[in-house]
Amino acid sequence: MRKNKIATPDKISLLTVDDDQNITFTIKSYFERSGGYAVDIENNPENAIERIRNGHYDILLLDYLMPSMCGDKVVEEIRKFNSEIFIIFLTGHKDMVPPVQTIRQLDIQGYFEKGPRFDELELLVESCVKSIKQLKMIRKYQDEVMNAYMQTIETLRNVVETRDHETRGHSERVSVLAASIAQEMGLSPQEVERIKIAGLFHDIGKIGVPDAILLKDGPLSQNEYEEIKRHPAEGEKILSTCSSFDDILPIIRHHHERVDGRGYPDGLTGDKICLGAKITAVADAFDAMVSNRTYRKGLGFDIAMERVVQGINSQFDAQAVAGLHKLIESIGREEFERKFCSHVNTLE
Ligand SMILES: [Fe+2]
Repeated sequence: MRKNKIATPDKISLLTVDDDQNITFTIKSYFERSGGYAVDIENNPENAIERIRNGHYDILLLDYLMPSMCGDKVVEEIRKFNSEIFIIFLTGHKDMVPPVQTIRQLDIQGYFEKGPRFDELELLVESCVKSIKQLKMIRKYQDEVMNAYMQTIETLRNVVETRDHETRGHSERVSVLAASIAQEMGLSPQEVERIKIAGLFHDIGKIGVPDAILLKDGPLSQNEYEEIKRHPAEGEKILSTCSSFDDILPIIRHHHERVDGRGYPDGLTGDKICLGAKITAVADAFDAMVSNRTYRKGLGFDIAMERVVQGINSQFDAQAVAGLHKLIESIGREEFERKFCSHVNTLE
């Protein structure tokens, strides 16, 4: 298959699809002459679908009636993976126009009855271009807001870890370990990514825990422990202000639940806890156990693993622990310890 031409950023990219090569050639010449457009042509509808899947096009001009595949079927396929491209049907004559219901269902911007004059088509394309430019501006603005928000969240996360030097690097390690376990368990790339991001922010709610408790050198009183136990719900609250974090909120809220229901904040049991939270719980506990604390040295790989196994079906989910075992088997104990236990030696 030919490599798709990518439009320069200031040009609108058009793909015109018609089994009639004269039509595609004429449309290409017309729009390229008027400037501002990068036009690709395709005479085979199946190839057109692949080109849209693999490349970037702003607008598709698509013949409604083609011998091998009808235009509405082509759009149906495209809409399965691309809801953004603007589509205009090219129709032969008046009684061959697609029904209005089809136009609405497939989110098509309009249709053009092929003829010698292309100015009507140009007007239709121009109205799509206006919408595309507005959408691009909105997206740019959203990206800027999102970046600023992410920087703020990242700063909060750093504040948490900077305040408590003992747990520095903890979130990154939990993020990588939990995502690696999820990958070994065969979870989808999207789910692995979700777990990775949740790992980074799982303890962000600790920002609200006073220093006197967070940094206390010794056992916590019941009241102090209750204060610490608020951090999953606090973290959920902080991140819930941005809808981009919606899908990680259950992991943030439930990373201290136990499968026997004795965890917090909700005391959920077994299947009520999402798998992402159960995996994060294992990674979180493992990292805490192997890490040094002012009142004790890190437990070491063997003892930490023994405790994880002892916690199966009480603190930990059996599947998630099996995922941890599988990960160790898959990368080898030496590499696992290098990745997830070597930080202990670097602490003062
Ligand atoms: Fe936590």
